Amino acid sequence: MRLILLGAPGSGKGTMAADLAREYQIPHISTGDIFRQNIKANTPLGQEANQYIQNGALVPDSLTIAMVADRLEQADCQRGFLLDGFPRTVAQAEALAELLEKRQLRLNAVIELELSDESILSRLSGRRVCATCGRTYNIDSCRPKQDGICDICGGTLYQRDDDKPETIRQRLANYYRQTLPLSDYYEQKNILVRINNEGEVGSSLPAVLSALKERS
Ligand code: AP5
Repeated sequence: MRLILLGAPGSGKGTMAADLAREYQIPHISTGDIFRQNIKANTPLGQEANQYIQNGALVPDSLTIAMVADRLEQADCQRGFLLDGFPRTVAQAEALAELLEKRQLRLNAVIELELSDESILSRLSGRRVCATCGRTYNIDSCRPKQDGICDICGGTLYQRDDDKPETIRQRLANYYRQTLPLSDYYEQKNILVRINNEGEVGSSLPAVLSALKERS
């Protein structure tokens, strides 16, 4: 299965990706997570990406495309993959199409998660992430058993730097300008599945799985 998860910041891509990756036994490739790992490790890629991420801007296409192309070469992608947060520009989508065409591979589906701006702002302000294993929580909708502590590994939960209200607004503006055109791009290719993700965590998974059954 080769999938893309599309959607605004905070629309629930990472949360749903965890379920889909488990269901299809495919790697969950989140460009945001890869950038954050590089920032934590203070690599040259992390240093460069951090300037953009802190300001709610997209990391330049050239860096992002090369990073994903490299990741897709890895052996675990042979049985498929789930891209979360990539592509985010038409240039990235075209680069991915070229990469897949060269290998005579096709995408099964692009799932677009839809959510109002109001819900996005509320979900992102409440998001907390485990500093050790990266699991995502929410102080309103997905609370850990013990405040500030990860249920899985006992790590400390923190708020992402780019989840401050002014950075969220910038990320959203960039999403509408740079990423939303991908919705039409993939619709024209007849592989777009739109899913309303306003419900509680896990509630839209059955609709996604059912749409994917027809496309596997
Ligand atoms: P990235 O990490 O990809 O951020 P994003 O796309 O802005 O998405 P988020 O991780 O914020 O949200 P999500 O949709 O995964 O939602 P989540 O599941 O966490 O990218 C960060 C930055 O890296 C970008 O701004 C950019 O600078 C750079 N970057 C990344 N990819 C790039 C690319 N391709 N090109 C250029 N630059 C790139 O859910 C959010 C919250 O809601 C959580 O608290 C969760 O618990 C909760 N929640 C989830 N689902 C539900 C539900 N159904 N009901 C209630 N609460 C829910």
